[in-house]
Amino acid sequence: SEPGISVTGAGSSRDQRFSDREKEDTLTNRQGHPVSDNQNIRTVGNRGPSTLENYNFLEKITHFDRERVPERVVHGRGAGAHGWFETYGTVGDEPVSKYTRAKLFQKAGTKTPVFVRFSTVIHGTHSPETLRDPRGFAIKFYTEEGNWDLVGNNLKIFFIRDAVKFPDLVHAFKPDPVTNRQDTARIFDFISQTPEAMHMITFLFSPWGIPANYRQMQGSGVNTYKWVNAEGKGVLVKYHWEPKQGILNLTQPESEQIQGKNFNHATQDLYEAIERGAYPEWELFVQIMEDGDHPELDFDPLDDTKLWPKEQFPFLPVGRMVLDRNPINYFAEVEQAAFGTGVLVDGLDFSDDKMLQGRSFSYSDTQRYRVGSNYQQLPINAPKKHVATNLRDGQMAYFVDMAPSGNPHINYEPSLMGGLKEAVQGGPPHEPFVEGHVKREKIDRTNDFGQAGRTYREMEEWEREDLINNLIIGLVPCDPQVQKKMIEMFYQCDEEYGRRVSEGLNQWNQGALPEGGGAPMGASQTEEAVQWAME
Ligand code: HEM
Repeated sequence: SEPGISVTGAGSSRDQRFSDREKEDTLTNRQGHPVSDNQNIRTVGNRGPSTLENYNFLEKITHFDRERVPERVVHGRGAGAHGWFETYGTVGDEPVSKYTRAKLFQKAGTKTPVFVRFSTVIHGTHSPETLRDPRGFAIKFYTEEGNWDLVGNNLKIFFIRDAVKFPDLVHAFKPDPVTNRQDTARIFDFISQTPEAMHMITFLFSPWGIPANYRQMQGSGVNTYKWVNAEGKGVLVKYHWEPKQGILNLTQPESEQIQGKNFNHATQDLYEAIERGAYPEWELFVQIMEDGDHPELDFDPLDDTKLWPKEQFPFLPVGRMVLDRNPINYFAEVEQAAFGTGVLVDGLDFSDDKMLQGRSFSYSDTQRYRVGSNYQQLPINAPKKHVATNLRDGQMAYFVDMAPSGNPHINYEPSLMGGLKEAVQGGPPHEPFVEGHVKREKIDRTNDFGQAGRTYREMEEWEREDLINNLIIGLVPCDPQVQKKMIEMFYQCDEEYGRRVSEGLNQWNQGALPEGGGAPMGASQTEEAVQWAME
């Protein structure tokens, strides 16, 4: 080696050269200059003023000033982990190839690396993890055919069935633009005009609205997708994750107790479980339905406010997932992770579910804004297989994803000069026939209350009690018209459900407060309720 220069790491991909002033752990700036004083800025005399040519200081402080990127517009608070998915090669008793040609599912025992991000929806990146909120459950499968993202929630259904309502739904649940407080008066104002949300509200205000942690909760794709087999035939499919750890939910008072001591409990629980080798595991199930409208059902199979009844559409196991590695940098791996419902591999397809279609546009749109137009090049988002595109440039493009043997001059297709070539199709395309008038209209079989009533009746009594208490406390601050409309709708779900909410609300109005309970979603803004919640 040259005099005065020691060469270490010979044979490593990076030729690491250090001068006498430097060792491997020497602090440098991003230009590679060793930093010999990281404690003092350059000043005229040791009391200042400072000078403007403080390059290292300016680099350090200006980078710090830009450390935060916009947080996710929803699902801001989250925790993530790496792991793998193993396919059984079967779906129930049948070979999986009967329904899908997606490679990751075919051969029993094949393991696909995954990254999972769990989240809460409404509040920001550092909000308490005890809040009443659906929990996000998003999985990125790094398959040999490229990435597949399954972006789901813990609950199996959703509030709305049309993507155009999503911004309104989120605005109603987010803090008031004037007071900056989440407010059930606004939430129920919106819900009272959104009857399709009654099923989700029934889950959300019960203990199912506060999973105890991320390991002991279910996951679901919620929207209806398709599987496509080697002949190009499609079936409708719904995905569900069942935790091997069991399911654990919290009542409102339980969650408040935890929140008083620890508002990061779910992140901590996941991280510590993985560190001590208690790797959380989920089994993946699908429900399958022949493609079509199914007029014999009292709901539309593409309506994401509905469950597909288990008796008719059994849960069929297809594989299992284990999370066994924590991220080493939260920002690089969890904050910059970008999941989207459009990210499918051959053999998986979209259904005509209107929500799914709206979602699939929204995710990559927001990620181009939130992370940047080259977000797919970041290690957490890049597939673990070769990528060769003619996409070029843009902010933070740090490599060219061309074929290693390709001609760097050719960034277009087609070409005879060594450019990229189209791939061979994975099989005959799935080409469903669609016709109809272009219109704005809701679906025919709305049946907004039937399944909500069934869900209410199937809950255990302690769950129903918590549900009713939380609803009453949530409804107290609402306008009387909103209360009236909500009670009408609870009655339509189930007579007892309506009666219990209505009686509880009347009792409250006469000064009698429900047992237990607390302040779901910041509902306790009345003096009286604050006092009661403190007792
Ligand atoms: C995150 C839009 C419905 C689950 C997001 C984000 C947007 C969005 C813009 C932020 C993404 C990012 O910044 O990376 C929508 C729209 C919907 C919708 C427009 C309806 C039309 C749903 C539904 C589910 C869901 C029904 C559950 C199945 C999630 C999850 C995340 C998320 C889990 C967080 C992903 C992560 O961990 O990075 N959504 N969403 N969303 N959404 Fe949705």
